[in-house]
Amino acid sequence: MNRFTGKTVLVSGAGSGLGRAIALAFAAEGASVVAAGRTAASLDETVGLIEADGGTAVAVTADVTDSVLLQDLVRESVSRFGGLDIAVNNAGIFRGAVPVGEVSEEDWDAVLRTNVTGVWLAMKHEIAHMKENGGGVIVNISSNLGAHLRIPNTAAYITSKAAVSALTRAAALDHIHQGIRINAVSPGASAAPMSLRPGETEAGRAERMKSENPLGRVAKAEEVAAAVLYLASPGAGSVVGTDLVVDSGSSA
Ligand SMILES: NC(=O)c1ccc[n+]([C@@H]2O[C@H](COP(=O)([O-])OP(=O)(O)OC[C@H]3O[C@@H](n4cnc5c(N)ncnc54)[C@H](OP(=O)(O)O)[C@@H]3O)[C@@H](O)[C@H]2O)c1
Repeated sequence: MNRFTGKTVLVSGAGSGLGRAIALAFAAEGASVVAAGRTAASLDETVGLIEADGGTAVAVTADVTDSVLLQDLVRESVSRFGGLDIAVNNAGIFRGAVPVGEVSEEDWDAVLRTNVTGVWLAMKHEIAHMKENGGGVIVNISSNLGAHLRIPNTAAYITSKAAVSALTRAAALDHIHQGIRINAVSPGASAAPMSLRPGETEAGRAERMKSENPLGRVAKAEEVAAAVLYLASPGAGSVVGTDLVVDSGSSA
């Protein structure tokens, strides 16, 4: 399929894990990809993988907690590829697996600032461009942890992701009349670094999933990417404010 030929897609957190898989999947379907994140070397690796596959991409360093850098990021996407049609706000962090009473103020602030304020700030600048240029599509990466499922010792992350799920629906209502379609994907434990417990190997995680997870395995990064591409595609033209859970049945 080539659903995104001629489209420019911005993916934050594109230097690793799910963001990289999402960037590769869009490029494989014809999109020009702007790969954003804080680490130039990992973004360059993503761009190299896309180019090796015959695709088009550029790496732009930006921190999603910095409004000025995000505004520059949108400007850079427009100047490199002539527009911004689709944005995937994927960058996120997890800090400190401890009970609520032991979460440090530093971890709390970092998680909320990156995961919630970062998504809001990114949308603010993406929407500013899209509403003046015929609309667009935004997909926020939330999590099944938060709005759909709670587990112990993850309070800051869960709070942040519940907020991303709610923020997505609020934004969808506020901007659909401007031709901007906004949805979320909420992955469960996926084949990406964040689902590994401290010191755990991929084989250890696979063993744990057999008992923890109804499907018995993590979601492949490509499966999460496929959900993002569906929501961004013309086929999802009437899907607005959805929070699509891709979690192997964990929150069913
Ligand atoms: N993996 C899972 O099982 C899972 C499950 C549910 C939801 N999710 C969500 O999926 C998203 C991707 O997670 P992942 O598993 O792929 O983790 P990951 O490999 O750690 O990727 C996170 C990406 O975000 C970037 N990032 C972090 N802070 C940033 C900032 N301030 N500004 C710009 N970029 C920043 C990181 O790059 P730099 O550090 O280079 O900036 C990194 O590339 C996250 O939102 C996560 O919460 C993951």
